[in-house]
Amino acid sequence: MKKIAVITGASSGMGKEFALKISKNFKSINEIWLIARRADRLEEVREEIDMPSYVICEDISEEYFIDKFAKMLKQENVKIKMLINCAGYGLCGKVGTAACYAELGMIDTNCRGLTAVTLAALPYMAKNSRIINVASSAAFMPQPYFAIYAATKSYVLSFSRALRREIKDKDVFVTTVCPGPVNTEFFAIADDGRERAWFKELTMAQADEVVVQALNDAINKKEMSVYGMSMKMFRIFAKTVPHKIILDVYAMMCKKMYEE
Ligand SMILES: NC(=O)c1ccc[n+]([C@@H]2O[C@H](COP(=O)([O-])OP(=O)(O)OC[C@H]3O[C@@H](n4cnc5c(N)ncnc54)[C@H](OP(=O)(O)O)[C@@H]3O)[C@@H](O)[C@H]2O)c1
Repeated sequence: MKKIAVITGASSGMGKEFALKISKNFKSINEIWLIARRADRLEEVREEIDMPSYVICEDISEEYFIDKFAKMLKQENVKIKMLINCAGYGLCGKVGTAACYAELGMIDTNCRGLTAVTLAALPYMAKNSRIINVASSAAFMPQPYFAIYAATKSYVLSFSRALRREIKDKDVFVTTVCPGPVNTEFFAIADDGRERAWFKELTMAQADEVVVQALNDAINKKEMSVYGMSMKMFRIFAKTVPHKIILDVYAMMCKKMYEE
């Protein structure tokens, strides 16, 4: 029986980094399943990684995907050692200013898609396996002008923490990754040509560093992986300062950028 890692969002950014790092350092895994929509980019990742791989070129937000993925897992007779839910996107801006399908798509991909992949994968998780769910520091509190995205990531954090409690007796450990801004293609979609906010520029992390920490934290069975001092401080800030105050200040900082 093959032992596999499944990575969604594997065609770029952190998902690709997870594939590269796992192929180099996790020799107990026999094959990596790479999931995303862009076939050409997935092929490039497949060529770069040092391990057999299986490319699944699909949209995880599509309703049919859960059944299709569940069938693939059954047919291939595999055990999952690592499930990494990394696919996702965000749109900055005032609620209602982007196309409706794109705003709702964040919920479909970040929440529904992630949950569908997890549901299909759960029966195939091996003993002492890991689930890494990529949320965001945006999960720590509501964010004006990033409202839907932040809400989807709060869902990911809440779902992942509860799931962790439910399945740890089965020797399956869930780690939620909550990075601040990371230098990937994410911002090409999120900012849509606008100038990037100064505070995001100031706290920008590199994808490979966030991923190394996430893998180490998952191996060590940690509940959360928060990269960098600024995001650790933001987490404490969001827990201790009344949200009304932070929301007013945050909205003031962003208003000029998104309303003019
Ligand atoms: N970069 C940041 O600042 C940041 C910070 C915190 C959290 N995150 C989260 O980190 C995760 C990875 O993002 P990234 O920064 O690495 O950005 P990225 O380079 O844009 O990667 C996003 C990945 O998700 C895939 N994807 C998007 N929609 C999909 C769908 N419907 N079905 C299948 N795959 C889909 C994309 O592939 P295709 O386009 O080929 O489908 C791509 O591989 C996301 O969940 C994001 O929300 C990012």
